[in-house]
Amino acid sequence: MKYFLILFCEICLALMAGKGFGQPQFIHPGARWLDDRGLPIQAHGGGVIQLGDTFYWFGEDRSRENDPTKRYASCYSSRDLTQWRFCNQVLVLTNVENLQLGWVLERPKVFYNPVTKKYVMYFHLDGVLPGEKGSYKFARLGVATCDSVDGNYTYLKSFRPLGHESRDIGQFIDDDGTPYLISEDRPNGFHIYKLSDDYLSVARDVCLVPRHFEGGAIVHYGGLYYFIGSHLTGWNPNPNQYAQAKSLAGPWSDFKDIAPESNDTFGSQSTMLFKVAGTRSTTVIFMADIWKPRAQWDSRYFWMPLEIGGGKLYLPPPHPWLIDISSGVTKILSP
Ligand code: DGJ
Repeated sequence: MKYFLILFCEICLALMAGKGFGQPQFIHPGARWLDDRGLPIQAHGGGVIQLGDTFYWFGEDRSRENDPTKRYASCYSSRDLTQWRFCNQVLVLTNVENLQLGWVLERPKVFYNPVTKKYVMYFHLDGVLPGEKGSYKFARLGVATCDSVDGNYTYLKSFRPLGHESRDIGQFIDDDGTPYLISEDRPNGFHIYKLSDDYLSVARDVCLVPRHFEGGAIVHYGGLYYFIGSHLTGWNPNPNQYAQAKSLAGPWSDFKDIAPESNDTFGSQSTMLFKVAGTRSTTVIFMADIWKPRAQWDSRYFWMPLEIGGGKLYLPPPHPWLIDISSGVTKILSP
């Protein structure tokens, strides 16, 4: 019954939406999201970039069929941020650093360098070396490159940025194209690093915020920078928080919850803030993961447009919604 009601509402909205939306497709936060093959999208802890009129979504591929000795990142493409075509398992990584069983490749993010014409993927590479105990001890950035956006990426190296531990990473490309990595450094807080000219290393630590946040994400909106991150609770959700600043270098404001604290970010964890600047409106999408640690292949996505501006932001409760890329206008299906 609920399904038919949603379908009915979708048809009504389709009729109301007019020509701007054509055939409207809804984004359903938390629902299973299928690609063009009818398979659940595998792009967890991911990031989206736009090249021309096409969006590319990269993330952890945790398909059950994957070889358990390898780690995978996949790429999907879309023109509307809603319907996604599977492109390729762009990175299939063997245990390149001699880590013990259970090593991880997490939160892959891809940058395009217009000068070298290379696609550069960063990811969190972790595990423990032989003889060590514990988990997540390696704490390094992994780098892989490719000549095409969805080709087969080649592993290049791993390193600690400017010598610092690096676990969760986030990607931020400023309006002028400058590329930054947000990196969680357990002893110190989180860093905002500017990448080097060739994008293959970190050039500068733009800011160290002495607060502990994972899933770090930044957007530049209305003359301010907004950061969102999650507390450190493993795979369990928590109330994600935000701060804002006039400059990436800070000072950053106090941190505040992005939604009522008791909701634990509606069970999700931040991964990216993505801006769609259309002809009528600029929308910032909160992109997050709903993790299922015991069934990672079935982890879900939580994408919702934020209410943002004047130094404040607010994550509305999840409902199906749609976006018109050219105008930037969104519509949330009211309950
Ligand atoms: C939270 C991080 O955000 C995830 O990427 C992952 O590293 C889990 N912790 C592991 O517990």
